[in-house]
Amino acid sequence: MAYAVLSRALSIVYLSIVLVLGQETVQDAARIARDLLTKNNIGTMGTVFPADHSLAGQPFALQEFHASCLHNGSLTLITFPISQHTINIRDSPKHSASIGVFSNPPGANSPRVSLIGNVTIYSHAVDMPGLQDIRECYVHNHPEARWWLPDETDIVSHWARFDPETVYFVGGFGGAHYIGYIPLEVYQDAESASYSSLLVQAQG
Ligand SMILES: *[C@@H]1O[C@H](CO)[C@@H](O)[C@H](O)[C@H]1NC(C)=O
Ligand SMILES: *[C@@H]1O[C@H](CO)[C@@H](O)[C@H](O)[C@H]1NC(C)=O
Repeated sequence: MAYAVLSRALSIVYLSIVLVLGQETVQDAARIARDLLTKNNIGTMGTVFPADHSLAGQPFALQEFHASCLHNGSLTLITFPISQHTINIRDSPKHSASIGVFSNPPGANSPRVSLIGNVTIYSHAVDMPGLQDIRECYVHNHPEARWWLPDETDIVSHWARFDPETVYFVGGFGGAHYIGYIPLEVYQDAESASYSSLLVQAQG
């Protein structure tokens, strides 16, 4: 009996804390996710080894360099034919990949996001929609890439676009932070915003 009263009292205290601090909404989560992907343009990509590989079906994760240049939150990449990620994407039926980024500095109570989607590789730079603007945006994000821009140097590389289909977000510890899937339309419509101004409790 006493336990039930105590437990009820504690849950009211907990609820009040959440109400006072505010709770991250899915729209907040989408803005934070867009901001993370804009500011942290080096992430981790995951792909799956294709059927003809000795590691068929196993996951593969390695650093990637993206730029968030599009209003809908799709990411721009430069791919190289020799890269294992490119081979995995090319040879998987859905051309699927996942890209994950985390806040800087990272922390258990800091946001991170994982996008799951597919990659369209442009064999010819001129075929990519909005080439000039995207080129400028990508070089602004990764100045060193000017030495391997597709169709501009001797290095063989291709422009590519990663279109997310599924968005999974962890804002930090549960309770005050959003943890879970963000509907694609909410992610695509969100404006990038400074996540520090949206954090509802101190980082740590
Ligand atoms: C990516 O997925 C979408 C939706 O399933 C599909 O329409 C599109 O053709 C795919 N793109 C590639 C490069 O496979
Ligand atoms: C995102 O925008 C780009 C550029 O307008 C477009 O090519 C691409 O298809 C869009 N992706 C999705 C998933 O709508």
